[in-house]
Amino acid sequence: MEYSKDMLRYEEQIIMQLRKLYSEHGYSQYRMSRFEEYELYAANKAFLPPGEILTFSGSGGKLLALRPDVTLSIVKNVKDDGELKKLYYNENVYRTDGTDIKEQMQVGLECIGDIDTGQTGEVIRLALKSLEIVSGDVRLDISHMGFLGGLIKTANMTVIQEKKLIDCISEKNTSGLKTLCDEYELDKEFSDRITKLSVLYGSYDDVIKKLREISVNDETDAALRELEELNKSLNLKKPKKAVFIDFSVVNDISYYSGVIFQGYIKGIPARVLSGGRYDELLRKFGKKSGAIGFAVYLDKLDKPDTTDEGVEAEKEPEMLNIALPKGRLGEKAFKILETSGYGCHELNEESRKLVFENRKNKVRYFWVKPSDVTRYVERGVADIGIAGKDILLEYSPDVYELLDLGIGKCRICVAAEMGFTQGGNEKILRVATKFPKIARDFYRKQGRDIDVIELNGSVELAPLLGLSDVIVDIVETGQTLSENKLEPVESITDISARLISNKTSYKFKHGMINKLCKAVSKETEEHFNR
Ligand code: PRP
Repeated sequence: MEYSKDMLRYEEQIIMQLRKLYSEHGYSQYRMSRFEEYELYAANKAFLPPGEILTFSGSGGKLLALRPDVTLSIVKNVKDDGELKKLYYNENVYRTDGTDIKEQMQVGLECIGDIDTGQTGEVIRLALKSLEIVSGDVRLDISHMGFLGGLIKTANMTVIQEKKLIDCISEKNTSGLKTLCDEYELDKEFSDRITKLSVLYGSYDDVIKKLREISVNDETDAALRELEELNKSLNLKKPKKAVFIDFSVVNDISYYSGVIFQGYIKGIPARVLSGGRYDELLRKFGKKSGAIGFAVYLDKLDKPDTTDEGVEAEKEPEMLNIALPKGRLGEKAFKILETSGYGCHELNEESRKLVFENRKNKVRYFWVKPSDVTRYVERGVADIGIAGKDILLEYSPDVYELLDLGIGKCRICVAAEMGFTQGGNEKILRVATKFPKIARDFYRKQGRDIDVIELNGSVELAPLLGLSDVIVDIVETGQTLSENKLEPVESITDISARLISNKTSYKFKHGMINKLCKAVSKETEEHFNR
C-alpha cells in the first residue's frame, strides 16, 4: 500500500513534519521510558508546568512517576563532556488535575553543551519554523531572564516578593506592579523601570532602543548585548513580522537565566510553544554545560480557525469581541467604553439579546455571567473583557490584566456575627464563601485549618443559621452585613474592575486593543504605559 499524507490525522501530520525538520538540522531522537523516579520531578517541581504528577510504587518500594515531562530526564542522563548534544523527542507526557488524567503528545528539542549566539539563533529559527508548519500567521515573542534578573536584583526583595512581582509582569499588570512596589517600599526609579519593562512589546529594533533606557547594570547590559547579537544572527529580514520582543514573557528565574520565548498562532487561544535557555537546571544536576530548548504543545494544535481569512475577511471588518459582566458593573464599564469611542447603540435599548455589535466602531459585545467573563476571554471567544479582581484571584485565568478601571471598588473580607472571635487552631474554622480559592489562600498563609463551605449566593445567611462560623465575601457599602447583624473581622484585599485580554488576541489584534486601552485609560484618568 502506498503511503499518503492524507492517511494521517492532523496532529500526526504535524508531528511527522516537526520530526523531519529537526532531523534535517542534525537533531537525533531521544527515547525514554514511561516511568522515572518520582524524586527527579519532586526536586524540580517549579520547572514543570502546573498539574499533579501521577505516582505509584515500583519494585523495592521505590516511588515512581509516569513522566510529566521529557526535558528533566534528558538533563539527568546527558553526558556533561563539553560536546554539543542536539536531541529531539516525541513522547506522551502524563498529568492529573486531581480528577482527570491527561495524556498529551509532546514534541520538542534540546541543545546541550557550549551554547553560543549562533546556536541560540538556530534553536529560535527552528521554533519559528515549527510554528510555520502549522500556520502562516504566527508570532514568536522573545524575552531575556538575565535582563529581568539584573533589574530585579537592584531592589533587594525576598524570593516571595520577587515571585509576586514577576507574576504581575507576566500579566502586563501595571497597576498590580505599582501596588506591589508601594507595598514593598521600592524606590520610584525601580518602580518606573520595571513598569516600563513589563509593557515593552514590539518589533526587535523598536524594543532594543527602549531597553537601552531601562538597562541599569552590567547584567542588564550583557543581556541587551546578547539580544542585539541574536538579532544579527537571526537575520530577521524575512520573518520580521513574526518575531517580537515581549518582556511579559517570563519563566522561573531559578531555572532560566537567558533568552526565553513563547509561540502563538492566530486562531489558537493559548500559547502553543514555550522554550528558552535553562543553564540553571543543569547546575542543579552539577553539570557545567549550557542548555536551550523548546516544547510544542500538540494538545493545543487544533486546526487554526481561519474562517475570517480570505474572501470572508474582505467583506467583514475585523471586530473586537468584548465580554461584559451582566449587571451594574457591566453597565458602568460599558458607559466608559461608550464615552471612549466604542459605543453600540443597540446595547442601550431595552432587550433580552446577549450579543450586540457596531460595525462602524468594530466592536461586538456579549453579556455574560460575571464569573464566566474569564472563561470567554481565556478561550479567545472574547478578545477582551471586564472582570472583577475577585474573579481573577479566584480563577487565576491565563490572560493579560491590562487596566484597572477604578470602578466596582469594594473589599473581600472575613465577616462574622457581631462579637465573634476566630480563635486559634484548636478548632477548624467553618468558612462559607463564593470564593473557595481566595479563602483557602488567605487562611493557608495564616497556617489556619479551615472547612470551606462553597455557596453560590446569599452567603450572609450561613453564620446566622449556624452553617458556618465566618464568611469570606465582598463588602461594598457594608449594608448587607449590618442589616444581618454581621461585621467585618478582617480585610483580605481591595478589589475593582479590570480590563483583561486574551493573550493570542493581544498579539494578533494588538493595534485595536492598544488603541482601546489608551482611549479607556484616558477616560478613567489612568496613564497607560506609565
Ligand atoms: C455582593 C456580596 C454581598 C453584597 C455586599 O452580593 O456578596 O452580599 O454584594 O454589598 P454591600 O456591602 O454594599 O451591602 P451580590 O449583589 O453580588 O449578590 P449575590 O450575593 O447574590 O452574589
